[in-house]
Amino acid sequence: MRYLVTGGAGFIGSNFVHFIMDNYPDAEVINLDKLTYAGNLDNVKEYVGNPRYSFVHGDIADAKVVDPIFEKGVDYCVNFAAETHVDRSIGDPSEFITTDVFGTYVLLEAAKKFGVKKFIQICTDEVYGTIEPGRSSVETDPLMPRNPYSASKAGADRLAYSYFATYGVPVCITRASNNYGIYHYPEKMIPLFVTNLLEDRPVPIYGDGKNVRDWLHTLDHCRGIQTVIEKGVIGEVYNIGGGNERQNIEVVDLIFKHLNKPESLKTFVKDRLGHDRRYSLCCDKLKALGWQPIVKFEEGLAKTIDWYVNNRWWWEKIKSGEYWEYYKKQYQDR
Ligand code: NAD
Ligand code: TYD
Repeated sequence: MRYLVTGGAGFIGSNFVHFIMDNYPDAEVINLDKLTYAGNLDNVKEYVGNPRYSFVHGDIADAKVVDPIFEKGVDYCVNFAAETHVDRSIGDPSEFITTDVFGTYVLLEAAKKFGVKKFIQICTDEVYGTIEPGRSSVETDPLMPRNPYSASKAGADRLAYSYFATYGVPVCITRASNNYGIYHYPEKMIPLFVTNLLEDRPVPIYGDGKNVRDWLHTLDHCRGIQTVIEKGVIGEVYNIGGGNERQNIEVVDLIFKHLNKPESLKTFVKDRLGHDRRYSLCCDKLKALGWQPIVKFEEGLAKTIDWYVNNRWWWEKIKSGEYWEYYKKQYQDR
């Protein structure tokens, strides 16, 4: 089976490349990635030279790159490639529209022209918008995205569905909750806070710290995607959540405790614009296909933190020059 993994040098995409390469010895993986600031070939360095793996440096929004890959034959296209950071989308949404929406369109066109067994569009729980306490989102709920990132993801989600409904492209859509794990770019909350603390820098908690996210380990996400590849009904959407709803401050407390850092490093800063209060997923539909999350949050988080402790070479390189420019712009006036 040939997998085209787009965004395979990013956080979840690279974990998926590992998952397929390590668990499916007959699978071939083509990793198509533009290597934006978030793309990092260190994440997949083990596979260089492996005949089952190839890397294409290119843009999913460029048909001249995408079409020849599909022409050679793709069984499963798993589209992770995207601009993904909500704060950056608030600063400048343009790349979110060109990559997340237009890029997905280019991939779908190629799938329509050359055929695939399944096209998996990787989407997010953020498309449902902010969810009241006591409720959780099911796949048929209306999409109410409230920031440019989630709006562009919602656009791509429905565009993918339209290629199924209109042209019969075999699309499945997955909507996952907040992931955590290794190779997570240190602009997102968990890796940012862990690496800041490892350098004894303060952590910037937005607002009152009581926003709720449902944390999903990348392994459980990858298992969920593979379940949809194997058993998902074409044209359907599947939620993938970890079942670990926590207020941000609860996650922060666990990180502080694990690293044994002083309370003085906690800072509460000006809130994110349009900050969604809570996400929550009902995952009964995917569970009916035999999947369920297996990583316990406290254990998964502890192992993840230890990985950052033991792999400073990975994140110290990232946290330099251009990264600090972004950091200053994002945090200095909060
Ligand atoms: P990431 O930002 O870590 O990685 C994105 C990757 O896509 C990078 O390697 C980047 O170089 C590549 N990329 C960006 N633009 C590209 C383009 N035009 N052409 C080719 N490659 C391009 O992102 P992530 O956190 O791994 O997220 C992966 C996918 O999962 C995204 O679609 C995201 O919306 C979705 N998702 C993420 C989460 C989460 O918690 N991180 C949760 C649910 C869904
Ligand atoms: P993030 O990791 O950016 O993921 P998302 O916005 O996609 O959920 O943020 C997770 C939560 O952490 C979210 O409620 C915003 C909050 N947050 C902070 O409090 N401080 C920060 O510096 C960042 C980046 C996020």
